[in-house]
Amino acid sequence: MMSTAETERVLGSDYMHWAKTTHARARFNLANSGMRPYPFARLNVAPSDLELSGPSFYGYAPLQEAIARKCGVAADCVVAANGTSMANHLALAALVRPGDEVLIEHPAYELLVSTALYLGARVRRFARKADEAFRLDPAEIERELTPRTRVVVVTNLHNPSGALADEGTLREIGEMAGRAGARVLVDEVYLDATAGAPPRTSLHLGEQFVVTNSLTKVYGLGGLRCGWILAEPELARRMWRLNDLFGAMQPHPAELLSIVALAHLDEIGAESRALLDANRPVFNRFLASREDLDAPPVTDGTVSFPRLNGGNVDRLSELLAEKYETSIVPGRFFEMPEHFRVGIALDTDVLTEGLARLSSALDVLKRMG
Ligand SMILES: Cc1ncc(COP(=O)(O)O)c(C=O)c1O
Repeated sequence: MMSTAETERVLGSDYMHWAKTTHARARFNLANSGMRPYPFARLNVAPSDLELSGPSFYGYAPLQEAIARKCGVAADCVVAANGTSMANHLALAALVRPGDEVLIEHPAYELLVSTALYLGARVRRFARKADEAFRLDPAEIERELTPRTRVVVVTNLHNPSGALADEGTLREIGEMAGRAGARVLVDEVYLDATAGAPPRTSLHLGEQFVVTNSLTKVYGLGGLRCGWILAEPELARRMWRLNDLFGAMQPHPAELLSIVALAHLDEIGAESRALLDANRPVFNRFLASREDLDAPPVTDGTVSFPRLNGGNVDRLSELLAEKYETSIVPGRFFEMPEHFRVGIALDTDVLTEGLARLSSALDVLKRMG
């Protein structure tokens, strides 16, 4: 598909600005892709459990070990970062030099594209097709790989569609990238939101894989900014050294709280899973009731990315904000303006009411023609 490399240096994110200034205010926030915030009180932390400063230089060893345990990898593969946001930035910065090609899925989480452009990469794209439920197709990647491709970037689960890529597909992509001398960056920030047991991290699929993740989306723990990169130890060491130019160290109180959260992650994750299991049928019933929306039923994850047939998504979004106290993410932020993203990881009654409002706004839009 689109093969022209984009090279314009980007110095901000329209999507992030919109997300911070606009959608966060809506009472029925269907724009949020993550789990409702997990309350601090439920972590049962006493002030005496915390300390302001500690021995966190190239990571705080107990947290390094806790993340490594969660991911089933060795601690020297783990690089701490400020959320998946900084993990993606640091991973790309370590892998890409100005002028290198980065091959990114389309549609994509905007920050992946803008970060690569900020770093001076030439960005090429490969398609995840709406009429194939946005599946990850190795043939699409093969078509766009060139000898200058340094990194192939994918999300699993896919943001914005929630599509899950299986291990065989990822392995095939890894082998293809390996032959071309490229790495595969897999952003797994939604991976633990699969309907069944979460698959293992792609780091296990080979040395060319680099993985980013955090406790934000599936666990509602974004405030901890507990993110990480998984990479083979030599690359991980390079990332630590590069991070000295960025964040240098993580805030120690957040490291201590993250250790507590990781110790309870199974229970926190079980709650997320139960909420998503309850909400997917609610959303799928809504979807089935709308002839003006095209999307496969949600089977995994926290989001859906329907196509609005015969309507204007930006008008829908404005109408929702003005009259219905409801927000969605317009598809233009994912370079597919006829689609929009809906998040389903809200309390079930809030989701139900938000979807009722979305239905009313869609009906109004249809009457307006
Ligand atoms: C694919 C993807 N990666 C990373 C992030 C940022 O996550 P974090 O809060 O861990 O920085 C998001 C947030 O929307 C996302 O959708």
